[in-house]
Amino acid sequence: MAKTTRIGVLASGGGSNLQAIIDSVEAGKIMAEMAVVISDKEDAFALERARKHGITAEYLDPKKGRRREDYDMTVLASLRRHKVDLVLLAGYMRLVTPVLIEAYPWKMMNIHPALLPAFPGLHVQKKAADYGVRFSGCTVHFVDGGMDTGPVIIQAVVPVLPDDDGDTLGARILKQEHRIYPEAVRLFTEGKLKVAGRKVIVKGSFAKDDACMINPPIKG
Ligand code: GRF
Repeated sequence: MAKTTRIGVLASGGGSNLQAIIDSVEAGKIMAEMAVVISDKEDAFALERARKHGITAEYLDPKKGRRREDYDMTVLASLRRHKVDLVLLAGYMRLVTPVLIEAYPWKMMNIHPALLPAFPGLHVQKKAADYGVRFSGCTVHFVDGGMDTGPVIIQAVVPVLPDDDGDTLGARILKQEHRIYPEAVRLFTEGKLKVAGRKVIVKGSFAKDDACMINPPIKG
């Protein structure tokens, strides 16, 4: 039998994406175990959510290490202690260093609230609304050494309405985040994702016609 994937989540904030993943695991849609949730913010609600579900929740103080790499060594030690196979960044407000990236090659994902490569960085819901684009959305991607640059796993598209501001657009995008992040995790745990250069090949999914569908239905 295939080994159950052990998931570690890094989160700095509210943790609604974390919640979507916990819910999918608890509903049996994702065959995985939630091994640990780590935060750089002591009062992150994400930690609270984890505890509520009996998941180990750890606050790791970023002020302890001088360099970003030192902090990531502390994070890595925790991930290893909890035998984590897959790392999920979910509203994690720190840039991860090669210390983590090299320890989890193509085994670390991030969710970004825009259609990458458009609008990388911060406050992108407001940037998209202010720019006047007609569509925005969200992207789940593997993490590489750049900021929001790694190979794209799944994207979902939402319309940008004339009266949208960052908040209204952000809420519409967040709903889609909660659909596609668990789906990307499911595909990973089922061994269906393969990185080939810049591209992620999704095995056995997306029939030819589905590939150009907007927001293909999520299975399961
Ligand atoms: C989400 O919009 C995510 O895309 C971004 O940070 C936000 C985190 O929200 N990286 P939550 O903490 O999962 O509710």
